[in-house]
Amino acid sequence: MKRIVLLVLLSISFILKGIADEGMWIPMLIGKNIAEMQRMGFKLTAEDLYSVNKTSLKDAIVQFGGGCTGEVISEQGLLITNHHCGYSQIQSHSTIERNLLANGYWANNLTEELPNPGLKVRFLVRMDDVTHQVLKNVTPAMNERERSLTIQQVADSLISQAQKEGIAYEAMVYPFYYGNQYFLFVYQVFEDIRLVGTPPDAIGKFGGDTDNWEWPRHTGDFSLFRIYADKNNNPAPYSPDNVPYKPKKFLKISTKGIKEGDFTLVYGFPGRTQQYITSHAVELLINQSNPHKIELRNTRLSIFNNFMNANDTIKIKYAAKHARVANAWKKWIGETIGLKRLDAVGKKQELEAMFNAWASSNPELKERYGWLLPKFAELYSELSPLSLVVDYRNEAVYGVELISFASRFDRLLGMALDSTTDVKKFQELRERMKNYVKSFFKDFEIAVDREVFAALMQAYTERVPENLQPEFIQRSKKQNVNWRQMAQQIYTQSAFSDSIRVLTLLNDLDSSSAKELLNDPIFGIYYDFEYLYRSNVEQRYYQITDSLEILYRTYIEGLMHMQPEKRFFPDANSTLRITYGKVAGFEPHDGAIYNYFTTIDGIYEKSQQHDIPDYVPPKRLIELYQTKDYGPYTVNGTVPVAFIATNHTTGGNSGSPVLDAEGNLIGVNFDRCWESTMSDVMFDPKYCRNITLDIRYFLFIVDKYAGAKNILSELVLVQ
Ligand code: ARG
Ligand code: GLU
Repeated sequence: MKRIVLLVLLSISFILKGIADEGMWIPMLIGKNIAEMQRMGFKLTAEDLYSVNKTSLKDAIVQFGGGCTGEVISEQGLLITNHHCGYSQIQSHSTIERNLLANGYWANNLTEELPNPGLKVRFLVRMDDVTHQVLKNVTPAMNERERSLTIQQVADSLISQAQKEGIAYEAMVYPFYYGNQYFLFVYQVFEDIRLVGTPPDAIGKFGGDTDNWEWPRHTGDFSLFRIYADKNNNPAPYSPDNVPYKPKKFLKISTKGIKEGDFTLVYGFPGRTQQYITSHAVELLINQSNPHKIELRNTRLSIFNNFMNANDTIKIKYAAKHARVANAWKKWIGETIGLKRLDAVGKKQELEAMFNAWASSNPELKERYGWLLPKFAELYSELSPLSLVVDYRNEAVYGVELISFASRFDRLLGMALDSTTDVKKFQELRERMKNYVKSFFKDFEIAVDREVFAALMQAYTERVPENLQPEFIQRSKKQNVNWRQMAQQIYTQSAFSDSIRVLTLLNDLDSSSAKELLNDPIFGIYYDFEYLYRSNVEQRYYQITDSLEILYRTYIEGLMHMQPEKRFFPDANSTLRITYGKVAGFEPHDGAIYNYFTTIDGIYEKSQQHDIPDYVPPKRLIELYQTKDYGPYTVNGTVPVAFIATNHTTGGNSGSPVLDAEGNLIGVNFDRCWESTMSDVMFDPKYCRNITLDIRYFLFIVDKYAGAKNILSELVLVQ
């Protein structure tokens, strides 16, 4: 018996030691990795990356908007991020007369920099391990609700204390490893952020959806912003009197270039990963959730495509929607293929078998961990139909623009019907809704959405079990409806599909017009789905996911106990992380080898495929290519554009600085390769590559393409 246990333990430590390159590490604890990083070529210390006593590289990095990363690259608060991260700002400044999307934009001086209400960036001031404080009053007898209330109480007081420490400080406490550990994050938030420069779409989005998630890539995916502060260099709301922010730290730009094997470090805000989910969860993901969501988006995208190809106005209106829907859709397809290719389920099962064997090796372990995996299996099988409804709610119900639009009126209608409503609040909300209505209709095409409605309702009817179908579907089925006819009827009747009718109703919204909207067929459909969800799904769904949270907390604790020599990293949760690796090409599939970099030659090559609209570079770029007018950016007769490396990244890492061994900026992260999209669940160094804009292409565009010498002169270049 002892021998078997020993064998099991040996094989565990062998298989699960962890793989260099894998992992999104906590900056404050990076000291644990530093020896390995230095072996891989890194020249700096842990203190250079993260320190609370002196300035460090973290002081040059921001969370940009809600979901991206950006970094400061001049002593006047100049910020670089991706073009796709600044896209909505660029779009909002664009008009037919001055189209920044089509033509790009380069401010000649500070007065030409464009403010962006609502856009914020946050610097991490510091992070603290507060596990001990937060769990101090938690007892094993508590249920999950009591536990989280107890934790929240302590967290709230830590947060309010921290927020008093500085101007525009925002603090949060986040759980790590499903609540085995807690960290306090203190941010300083700036809200006067102005657009400084952007290349045209034909560079910043070159390759579009055709190339999205794929290598080889030729996208000049960057845009430039500037942080403004008040006269004392503190965060302040927008004011014409504000001045460029003097950062504690800014990144120097390396023009040295990269070669295969070079050390790379990505420092940014990855959003969400699920590295520790069990085989049952992976099965649910690849056999149910992803296939259904993919299918529902196939339906939507093919309707979009038909209309967009037939009509240029619709093409513009639906461009951003199409890109949004297509982005996750393509990733799920890649993720499913990748997880199957790695046999993720099999590998997870292997780990689970080891875990069970280990847990059975003594009675104490058995009591604490022996029950976990059967319980996971039980909960996931109960979760499966509920999770299907949740997926259909997100993708089919809210995938219909008009239903999602109607749902936004819920609160306002409630207020209109409530005689105790505060009139001023009501009017404020009504004004906001009027603006929302206008922006909704700007990009809405009734014919498109009507088809989407018919197709998605049909899909819901066919694929969601009877007992989880709302009344509206059951009724329609009994009457044997033709969904297209039904859509025609409803979209003609509904006030929500007509901007003038909605706005008129809003203008004199009283209880009788509110009732009219409540009785509107679209609102009725929304309500039916919501009623079903709230009465038959929501409560049980959250009970199960809460229980799973506890199971995972214990499971991870067990895994750490079982593999004491393994370095664990916590799942991404939109907090600042470090990931390191090296520049490397790879073999995506049998018979193919990917080089580690691309050049401007590839842009020209792609432009010769005349039938692909995503491959049309600006004329000026082609001129530069044809005359080989590359100036100091010439490398072997061409200009480098992008490169790939083995860093473990995910959504949210867009815009993250990619640093060399000395901590200088060599590129800006913007995507992952198709073959690596499974890395949110399982990383494999053989196939996982992040895609980075080579900083020399950025310099080339700013200098040779745009002639923006003012921007160039702010940068500090190092050889
Ligand atoms: N795939 C990248 C990311 O996940 C880029 C998305 C923007 N580009 C696009 N063609 N939609 O966000
Ligand atoms: N494009 C992604 C983003 O916007 C990064 C790519 C990834 O998911 O790795 O954050």
